[in-house]
Amino acid sequence: MHLFEPLRVGPLTLPNRLVMAPLTRCRAKQPGNVPHELNATYYAQRASAGLIVSEATQVCPEGQGYLWTPGMHTPEQGKGWRLVTDAVHAAGGRIHAQLWHVGRISHRSLQPGNAAPVSASDLRSAGTCFALDADGKPARVQCDQPRALSEAEIPGVIAQFGKAAQIAKDAGFDGVQVHGANGYLPDQFMSSVVNQRQDAWGGDPVRRVRFLMECVHACAQVWGADRVGVRLSPGSGNDGDTVDTQWREQHLEAARQLGQAGVAYIDLVNYQWAYGKPGFDDAFLRDYRAIYRGAVMVSGGLTHEHASQLVATGLCDAAVFGRAFIANPDLPMRFLRNLPLATGDEATYYGGAERGYTDYARAE
Ligand SMILES: Cc1cc2nc3c(=O)[nH]c(=O)nc-3n(C[C@H](O)[C@H](O)[C@H](O)COP(=O)(O)O)c2cc1C
Repeated sequence: MHLFEPLRVGPLTLPNRLVMAPLTRCRAKQPGNVPHELNATYYAQRASAGLIVSEATQVCPEGQGYLWTPGMHTPEQGKGWRLVTDAVHAAGGRIHAQLWHVGRISHRSLQPGNAAPVSASDLRSAGTCFALDADGKPARVQCDQPRALSEAEIPGVIAQFGKAAQIAKDAGFDGVQVHGANGYLPDQFMSSVVNQRQDAWGGDPVRRVRFLMECVHACAQVWGADRVGVRLSPGSGNDGDTVDTQWREQHLEAARQLGQAGVAYIDLVNYQWAYGKPGFDDAFLRDYRAIYRGAVMVSGGLTHEHASQLVATGLCDAAVFGRAFIANPDLPMRFLRNLPLATGDEATYYGGAERGYTDYARAE
């Protein structure tokens, strides 16, 4: 296989195996965290990706941990997303919505009523989120102390994933991706470090993956499992915590259950490749593929060469690119013609308007 061979993902045929990663850009219209024309332009510019996965979208107000991120829980947001999906489809692309609940990676100032963020347990993250600091300026701030969700509350949170999946469907997306990676709520439940519950939602790998699975099932009820993807980050948490020593066993259990559920694909983020932090290796990918027989995508610091090699050797079916798609809206064409890549401006990754967002040029 090579990167420019089509790939079937559920009912979708991706014309190439280069997927645009979900990328939070903090540019939703305020108030209300509503997607707008500028966002539609940005996504449409990148429609030559085999599949676009939208930036993470909070499924409820409590699910927000960064300023100005778009939501998927109000009618206005649904209408805003319709601008995006129409623009992407008109440009010949396909787009999944990434559904997000940050859990404890949040700050009281972002929470309704300035309440404490929720999590699997009441352990505070050593990481940061993006909120207004004490001087009222947007900044990376220490995550607040969370409170543990009660057993009675958990089904309500899962139902919010289902409602968001419906809003995404009505807004014209081609499917949804459950954000189970990067130390957010489903990942908090999966971590034996963060999840200290002794009830039906913690205590062993099967119970720790239950929250993720129920979110997936809630989305599959709306879409059918073959239009639901999942993102996971085996071996890393992204929020300053000690790595979960049981991550391997945990993720292979997730692979088994996600395979049974028949999800469209799993995207595995490798922090090792992306940032030189703990992540997974090729041997893990082989074990993973032996358990999960659906489409596997991988992400993290990929180059054209590395991606080609991973797809050619069958370690994955598609390669997911984040930062490269920010600065190169026509990334597939650049790979095809071996053109040089532009480098993104990190100062404009989060927040702002056109600059560093819709003003990256096509190669020709
Ligand atoms: C600006 C920025 C925003 C990101 N936002 C998200 C996000 O919303 N959801 C997500 O799952 N990952 C997010 N990530 C991680 C990327 O999807 C990707 O996994 C990571 O950047 C590594 O891939 P790369 O080396 O190709 O950029 C973000 C990364 C960056 C740089």
